[in-house]
Amino acid sequence: MDACISVSDLRKSYGSVKAVDGVSFEVEYGKVFGFLGPNGAGKTTAIRVLTTLIPPTSGAVRVFGQDIVRHSKEIKKRIGVVLQEPSFEANLTVERALELYGLMWGVPGEKRRDRARELVEKFDLESFKSMKNDELSIGQRRRVQVAREFMHDMDLLFLDEPTVGLDPAARRTLLDYVKKHVNRGLTVFFTTHIMEEAEYLCDEIAIINRGKIIATDTPAGLKQKYGGVKAVEIKLKESTAQSVMHLIRSIAGGSAIETPAEGTIRISSSEAQEMLVRIIESLSKNAVQIESVSVNPPTLEEVFLTVIGNEKA
Ligand SMILES: Nc1ncnc2c1ncn2[C@@H]1O[C@H](COP(=O)(O)OP(=O)(O)O)[C@@H](O)[C@H]1O
Ligand SMILES: [Mg+2]
Repeated sequence: MDACISVSDLRKSYGSVKAVDGVSFEVEYGKVFGFLGPNGAGKTTAIRVLTTLIPPTSGAVRVFGQDIVRHSKEIKKRIGVVLQEPSFEANLTVERALELYGLMWGVPGEKRRDRARELVEKFDLESFKSMKNDELSIGQRRRVQVAREFMHDMDLLFLDEPTVGLDPAARRTLLDYVKKHVNRGLTVFFTTHIMEEAEYLCDEIAIINRGKIIATDTPAGLKQKYGGVKAVEIKLKESTAQSVMHLIRSIAGGSAIETPAEGTIRISSSEAQEMLVRIIESLSKNAVQIESVSVNPPTLEEVFLTVIGNEKA
């Protein structure tokens, strides 16, 4: 079966600015694919091309197996798009805007009202559903904008930094709602510059910088590949005797070894986890009692900074 989205050497320039500079990737049906990158990386431009809003400069994009230039009409019917710009219905109440959106998409009356009710509840819009769009805060407006998209049935949803301006609770609610629909078969293309979000939602992440994909993998795969330094912390029952430090140095020789607190030893190394095993062996052989150990895996944030940093170097 074809991929849901298939992109081959896509380029989009604005004059001399190469906003998207030769990217290729595939998104399988029923998955969440994340474009993760800093401001100006080319995320919005990519979404605009993929949703047929602007034509590519070159390259091939197929959505649902169809070419986006030749089949934009058919494709548009099956996708949802949430862009960064505020929505158009400034003068409509939230409720009315949902209703109208359903009408626009030809959702029949009873279903339309049911959906609107569900979305008001799920996106926590009750307290301001009778207010007009331009009276809302940025975060409230954003929630309405995403909720609105769920008024119609779609197979593929594009979300361009949908959580900007949302507080952590609203952010989580939104991501969970999207997740629920993914479990029912929705495919999602999602952009963000927030690592935790990408990690929480995405099956696969492409890190994009200056128009180019510079890394792509699952969140776990990225961490493993670019995770680099891990820290292992060992807490001893008694204070750190010189002989203990000697044992640890003989194993973790080249790594950074700190004693952040009395009886606590921290080792930072890309092989920290492997070292930990040998250290525990050695300590127990020498009758040194261990209170606790912990391994701190790298965060996706660290991965991101490493990958972007390598680019600049
Ligand atoms: N309409 C436009 N005209 C000219 N340059 C643009 C336009 N839209 C975006 N750009 C430029 O293209 C690059 C990528 O922008 P964008 O796709 O908006 O990135 P992101 O969404 O990742 O922040 C930036 O350098 C931006 O200034
Ligand atoms: Mg953008």
